[in-house]
Amino acid sequence: MARIARYYREYGIRIVRGFMQYVWDGAGRQYLDCNTNHGAAFLGHANPKIAEAVKRQLDEILVVPLNFQTPARERFLEEFSELLPAKFGVIFLQSTGTEAVEVAVKIAKKLTRRRTIVAFTNSFHGRTMGSLSITWNEKYRKPFEPLYPHVRFGTFNAAWEVDKLIDEDTCCAIVEPIQGEGGVNPAATEFLKALRDETARRGAVLIFDEIQTGFGRTGAVWAFQKYGVEPDIFTAGKAVAGGLPIGLAVAREDFGDVFEPGEHGSTFAGNAVVMAAAAAASRLLREEGVTARAERAGAELAKALSEVNSRLAVRVKGMGLMLGLELRVKAEQFIRPLLERGLLALTAGVNTLRLLPPYMITKEDIELVHHAVSDVLRRAERA
Ligand SMILES: Cc1ncc(COP(=O)(O)O)c(C=O)c1O
Repeated sequence: MARIARYYREYGIRIVRGFMQYVWDGAGRQYLDCNTNHGAAFLGHANPKIAEAVKRQLDEILVVPLNFQTPARERFLEEFSELLPAKFGVIFLQSTGTEAVEVAVKIAKKLTRRRTIVAFTNSFHGRTMGSLSITWNEKYRKPFEPLYPHVRFGTFNAAWEVDKLIDEDTCCAIVEPIQGEGGVNPAATEFLKALRDETARRGAVLIFDEIQTGFGRTGAVWAFQKYGVEPDIFTAGKAVAGGLPIGLAVAREDFGDVFEPGEHGSTFAGNAVVMAAAAAASRLLREEGVTARAERAGAELAKALSEVNSRLAVRVKGMGLMLGLELRVKAEQFIRPLLERGLLALTAGVNTLRLLPPYMITKEDIELVHHAVSDVLRRAERA
C-alpha cells in the first residue's frame, strides 16, 4: 500500500468523528477542537445546517463548469452578498486560500501593469510559488528559491515607513489584518490607514488577506470592519464553505472585468457542492449571530488565558476567537501534552500557543482550556 507524503508534524492520533466543537478518536476519547484545521471548522464539525445543504446538493449535481449558471452558485451569491460592505461587488472563486492570494495579485498586476508586490515581515500568504514569494518566513521559502523576484518586504506595523515602501512600480500591497501563522499579531490601525492612503495616492491596489481572520472569527464578519479601513480586494477561505475546500478574492465592483475569458480559471472553483455548503455557511453566520458569539466567547477565552498563572506566559494576543498566548519558551512542546488533556491547539510563530476554536465554544470548554494550559505550563516550569 502507498503512503501519504508527510507535510506536517504528526501526533499519532486517529480522529474518526466530529460534532460541533468536539472530535473523537478511535478509542472514543473526546477532544475540544481549538485547532479546527487552522480555522476551517469555525462553524463546527458536521454542523447540521451545513451538512443538510451538502446532502441535498449531492442528490442534485456536483459539477457544473463556470461557463454555465447553476442554482447552488446563485444561492451562494445571494447569501454571501449579505456579508459584503457595499463597495465589494465581485467575487473571484477558487478552491484554496493560496489560490485566492494568487488571483488577487494577478488582478493587481493586470490592472496596474506594474511589477513590485509589497508584503511585510512575519507575513504568511500560502505555499504556491506566488504566495510563497510574499511569505516572510525563511523556513517556508528558502528551499524553493528563486521565487518571484519583485517583492519588497516592509516592517509590519511600521506606519512611518509606508510612504517609502510604495512607489510607481508597486502593483499592490498585501497584509493580514491580524497575522496568523506569524504569531497572532494584530495590525495597528495607523499602519492600515497609512497603507490605504499611500496605495490610493500611488495608484497601487491594497489587498487584505482575510483567509484566517475573515468570516466571523475576529468578532466582525471581516476584520477590516473592526479597523474601519477598506482594501480594494480581500481574500477569504478556511470556514467559508463550512470546512469544504474554498478560497476567494472579493473586489471592488469596477475590478470585475479584469480577465478576458480563459485568461484565468480553475477546474474546481465554484464546485456546486462547495457552493451549497458556502451558501448554508453564509446564512448560518447571520442567522446564528456568529460574529457576536465569537466576540463574547473570545472575550471570555482571552480572560481565561490571561488568568493562567505561570511565569512562562507573557501576554494574550488577538481578537475574537483568534487568540494567541505568547510564551517565554517554544510553544510546540505543549501541543502533545495538551492533546493528552483533551485539547487540540496550534502554534503561531515560535513562542505563541494559538487557539482557533469554533464559535459555539461554551463556558465549560473555556474552563477546560484554562485548566489544560495552566497544567502543562506549571509542569514545564517544574521540569
Ligand atoms: C493568512 C493566510 N493566507 C493564506 C493561507 C493559505 O491558505 P490555504 O492553506 O488554504 O492555501 C493561510 C493558511 O493558513 C493563511 O492563514
